[in-house]
Amino acid sequence: MAAASSSTMIFTCRLMIYLIVIVSNYSLGPQMVQVAEGSRAFFVFGDSLVDNGNNNYLISIARADSYPYGIDFPTHRPTGRFSNGLIIPDLISQKIGSREPPMPYLSPQLNGRRLLVGANFASAGVGILNETGAQFLDILRMFRQLNYFKEYQQRVQALVGKQQTRRLISQSLVLITVGGNDFVNNYYSASSISQSRNLPLPTYVKLLISEYRKILMNLYQLGARRVLVTGTGPMGCAPAELAARSTNGRCSAELLRAAALYNPQLTQMLAGLNKKLGKDVFISANTRQMHADFINNPQAFGFTTSKVACCGQGPYNGQGLCTFLSNLCPNRNLYAFWDAFHPSEKANRMFAEIITTGSTNYMSPMNLSTILALDSTT
Ligand SMILES: *[C@@H]1O[C@H](CO)[C@@H](O)[C@H](O)[C@H]1NC(C)=O
Ligand SMILES: *[C@@H]1O[C@H](CO)[C@@H](O)[C@H](O)[C@H]1NC(C)=O
Repeated sequence: MAAASSSTMIFTCRLMIYLIVIVSNYSLGPQMVQVAEGSRAFFVFGDSLVDNGNNNYLISIARADSYPYGIDFPTHRPTGRFSNGLIIPDLISQKIGSREPPMPYLSPQLNGRRLLVGANFASAGVGILNETGAQFLDILRMFRQLNYFKEYQQRVQALVGKQQTRRLISQSLVLITVGGNDFVNNYYSASSISQSRNLPLPTYVKLLISEYRKILMNLYQLGARRVLVTGTGPMGCAPAELAARSTNGRCSAELLRAAALYNPQLTQMLAGLNKKLGKDVFISANTRQMHADFINNPQAFGFTTSKVACCGQGPYNGQGLCTFLSNLCPNRNLYAFWDAFHPSEKANRMFAEIITTGSTNYMSPMNLSTILALDSTT
């Protein structure tokens, strides 16, 4: 009896020591987990052009989690990316030398050391304005994406401590792509009931730019120091808009006018912010010009068409959603558009290439390879 109780005691003591070791290891965590030198964290914000699966975890109708989305992805399975294969964040992540792209923030698998790679907060359907995308139900509007970025930083602090977290954020690269939905799914959407639809276009554009500026200042205040900001494409030329608005296959004049007003003001606003901050934090990517290049001369880029979507139905395959019932092209590399709104992987590769090495016609004040070279020497 006595022997039994002393061995129980020894066992209890051992257990307590184990527990103390475990608990102290845990609280020593910040010193023990190091942020790998040379690997740069990557954060992504915005809409369906860059969402890599957050909407899979939401009650939203803006989703890409079924066949044939992902048909050319390495796993050949849908992931939530709005493309046949890789999207711009995957390709940028490769360009900066990451082993893997950051996971969707809402993924339960994004924890522990994986957090140090970065995170993707983007959500299909969102716009700069809160009111944009109401028809898609639950989506991560920009203020929620920013709140999650705050929460992310707290989680990383628990892992590597405050100082290393701050360094991880300040040395990171951020990509933000938002604004297209404020036009196609708000201002020009027949189903939208928002107040701002009644504003004249130039006033609406000014509203977007001033709200976007606040979002970007917020990102800066949260520690971001290198932020790639893409403009909208020539929205009027997407197969969805050709199907809805065009009678002769020409791009929608109204949406072209919107993009022509918005994009230069965006670039100007970014230059103004950099001037105010005294450094080149915000890098403007002229996606309208990149896209216009394909649209004006698709053959020069190896596309047979930039008008017809690979997956869809109706005129230009631009009506409704891309589903397992849709027309599906056999060779996705020949199409600039995968579905009615979103580029094919091939087109995304060209965007990523221009972001990395493009001239000042596309990238201002400089391209990503210049940023990487500059940052590696400071
Ligand atoms: C969007 O909504 C959130 C939450 O209601 C609010 O905090 C934020 O200020 C709103 N943003 C704009 C631009 O109205
Ligand atoms: C962009 O990248 C290339 C290197 O690939 C470089 O030669 C060029 O000068 C860069 N342009 C700008 C504006 O940064």
